[in-house]
Amino acid sequence: MELTWLGHSGIKIKGSKTVYIDPFLTGNPAASTTPEEIEEANVVIVTHHHDDHLGDAFPICKKTGATLVAIHEVAVEGEAEGITAEGMNVGGTVEANGVRVHMVTAIHSAEKGDPAGVVIELDGKTLYHAGDTALTYDMKLIGEFFHPDLCFLPIGDRYTMGVPSAAKAVEFIQAKKVIPIHYGTFPIVSADPEDFKKRVQNLAEVIILKPGESYTL
Ligand code: NI
Ligand code: MN
Repeated sequence: MELTWLGHSGIKIKGSKTVYIDPFLTGNPAASTTPEEIEEANVVIVTHHHDDHLGDAFPICKKTGATLVAIHEVAVEGEAEGITAEGMNVGGTVEANGVRVHMVTAIHSAEKGDPAGVVIELDGKTLYHAGDTALTYDMKLIGEFFHPDLCFLPIGDRYTMGVPSAAKAVEFIQAKKVIPIHYGTFPIVSADPEDFKKRVQNLAEVIILKPGESYTL
């Protein structure tokens, strides 16, 4: 499958299904694409109700007919706009259009509903997108229970983990491959991904992408 960093926390997964996570494109100075350019999506996942994550999720669902997967309160908001949604909560699993999504803990805040991370199963691969979160011991459990092949971790600090805590998270998760996200979008979330890579050392392969770049898993 092909994993593309859209900038900030936005990820496109292109496998047998097309999945978007946290597609914050409009108003994102680092965005590599626009909602207008998105033609196809099966599932759109939103980790939490903050503008830089909810982003263009609703317009993309409306345009493509994708199913929204989000915490209950966000799903209800989407349904009110006529979107097909699978509402869920932390601890639960849903299958939407052939994509399995487990919702896991994130230590953060949200405008509505709780913040979350997601573990996604598609085409025999398991991916963990941590959303916005602090470093938490729960990551040990997520690693032990789901054995993610790859994880997306925020490193931008201030609103999420910074570089040192994200490096510790890699140790907790026992992730094999990591793509750092949620940095460089705005000066307030600047971080050095090379420093992150240095701190992770040989614990995991750190894949540094530029917005718009892809990694084949
Ligand atoms: Ni947030
Ligand atoms: Mn955020």
